[in-house]
Amino acid sequence: MSRFEGKRVFLTGAASGVGKATHALFREEGAEVVAVDVQEAPDVIRLDITDTAAVVDLVTGSGPFDVVLNVAGIVRVEHTLDVTMELWDRQIAVNLTAPFAIIQAALPGLIERKGNIVNVGSIAGVRGQAYSAAYCASKGGIVMLTKGLALEYARRGVRINSVCPGGVWTPLVEGVAAIMPKDLNERLMQRTYNVLPPGFADPSEIAEAIAYLASDAARSVTGAAFMIDGGIDS
Ligand SMILES: NC(=O)c1ccc[n+]([C@@H]2O[C@H](COP(=O)([O-])OP(=O)(O)OC[C@H]3O[C@@H](n4cnc5c(N)ncnc54)[C@H](O)[C@@H]3O)[C@@H](O)[C@H]2O)c1
Repeated sequence: MSRFEGKRVFLTGAASGVGKATHALFREEGAEVVAVDVQEAPDVIRLDITDTAAVVDLVTGSGPFDVVLNVAGIVRVEHTLDVTMELWDRQIAVNLTAPFAIIQAALPGLIERKGNIVNVGSIAGVRGQAYSAAYCASKGGIVMLTKGLALEYARRGVRINSVCPGGVWTPLVEGVAAIMPKDLNERLMQRTYNVLPPGFADPSEIAEAIAYLASDAARSVTGAAFMIDGGIDS
């Protein structure tokens, strides 16, 4: 398939996990992708998206785009009493404020090209997740940012959707597991496990959902919080 032949795509978080799989899929299907990440990777521009001036400059200077994919994200599982303001601010900055700045900078081009946006939310954006207050707040924020913008820009031909994964086997999950406190309530942690075996989705499954939402096949879909949560929210 070549659903994105001739399409220009802006993608964050392209060095790892879901973003890396998304980068590969869109390029395979003909897109020209401007990809960024704070980590170094082949064909990826190294940039911290919380440097708002730099990311806005990049979007404005390399646009216009047909598709914007906000995939970069961070999470920290921690007892709320141990969450520093720095930890709170960082999660909100990466997961919510940076996507807003990117979207605002890309919107004039998206309107011109009748383009669309896919934001990566989370099951934690639609359902509570213990020990993850900042993450829940940021992902709930991105889900509702998506819905608000979807209404505002529908009549101007721009679609805005989010995908909400449950567990996906990526370095993010491995990183969380390595540093999370050892005294978490197991019953609460079990609420975060996918019901469907094998317990984690593959990043390529999330990339496929993103590609569907960004493609013409989803031309009647906007404001969706598309669940790929292995049944957690059933
Ligand atoms: N893995 C899961 O179980 C899961 C579940 C629900 C939602 N998500 C969401 O999926 C998205 C992708 O996560 P993943 O699991 O592939 O994680 P990942 O850690 O493998 O990839 C995230 C990428 O974002 C990049 N990034 C982080 N901060 C950045 C910054 N300031 N500037 C630029 N790039 C930055 C990282 O360097 C990394 O390459 C995230 O938004 C995450 O919250 C993941």
